[in-house]
Amino acid sequence: MPIIEPTHSAPPAEMIFDDWYPALRADKLRKGAHHTTLLLGIPLLLGRKNDGSLFALRDLCPHRGIPLSAGWFDGNTVTCKYHGWEFEPCSGQCTLIPSLTQHDSLDAQRIYAGAYPCVEKDGYAWVYMPAAGAGRIQPDDLAKLPPVPELPKFSQKFKSIHLTANLPCNVDHGIIGLMDPAHGPFVHQAWWWRSRSSIHEKSKVFEPIPHGFRMASHKPSVNSAPYRLLGVYGEDFTTTIDFVLPNRRYETIRCGNKWFSSLTTVTPVTPTTCRIDVIGAWNIFLHVPFVLPIVRYFGNRFVAQDQQTMVEQSEGLRYNPALMLIDDADKPAKWYFALKQARLKGTLGDNHPLTAPVTLHWRS
Ligand code: FES
Ligand SMILES: [Fe+2]
Repeated sequence: MPIIEPTHSAPPAEMIFDDWYPALRADKLRKGAHHTTLLLGIPLLLGRKNDGSLFALRDLCPHRGIPLSAGWFDGNTVTCKYHGWEFEPCSGQCTLIPSLTQHDSLDAQRIYAGAYPCVEKDGYAWVYMPAAGAGRIQPDDLAKLPPVPELPKFSQKFKSIHLTANLPCNVDHGIIGLMDPAHGPFVHQAWWWRSRSSIHEKSKVFEPIPHGFRMASHKPSVNSAPYRLLGVYGEDFTTTIDFVLPNRRYETIRCGNKWFSSLTTVTPVTPTTCRIDVIGAWNIFLHVPFVLPIVRYFGNRFVAQDQQTMVEQSEGLRYNPALMLIDDADKPAKWYFALKQARLKGTLGDNHPLTAPVTLHWRS
């Protein structure tokens, strides 16, 4: 999937470290395979050892800085191309410096390449990105890290898809585009979703949750066909949409024992670019043929509509225009910026922008 580079210097966003981000689809990493990627501006070498464990190394040799990806990975050891230093990739520990002789006192094992915690969940390799200068994360520290994000699932059997798109804008624009309720009838016009003529006034209750906010349970928009499809089961259904820092949107729709659930993340690739990843799962139509390719087709179209809009938006943002956030449709974006600032300052505990449930009104 090509990264869409901005054609100009797009405005950067501050990035939130000390948290988990999806770096790659885990199925790309078969045993002995490795891939490079960028996460929060840091080049990473990800791979899977022969014992099945995933690793994420900073893709720079601690000796002279050549990318470790220029060298070799044999399923157990990463070897640097330049002077052949060998590293155990999960810990980053150097295990061999070929040039050393018995006259040297240097202990290779005291040298480490940068290694980040890397965990497989919901089909992604999630990487924990510590703040610069935080020091090496020791094995004992792993239990103290926040939990790896997980898609809520409500039954053993389900189907799932992954969708992804690179966005040529910074993570803030990606996220406020994700939570923006007013663009739907314009960007996502389609016979199967909704049209401009279906615009009507909505009222939604939002409440604070830790590190984010929740659009409280309600009956979903009656003007969208996929939701009407769910209604075939004839029971009341409820939807909950949560936004949680740094970058997560959880949506669950439940109707009796039938459910649909999605986790969407917008991850900074660099300070000026980001990537949207969606995992969706459901337990309806499990035995109907062709549901998966149909969902994938429409899901990809939906994500591509957002992507195309942000490609066009980035053309305007190159001129660094003054922008505005309006009431009430842009209130969630304002809360996002307030939550993010509080988190970056370390004051989120007593500084939630939402102190009580509020009702927002907009037309979409
Ligand atoms: S630069 Fe990697 S071993 Fe020298
Ligand atoms: Fe959208």
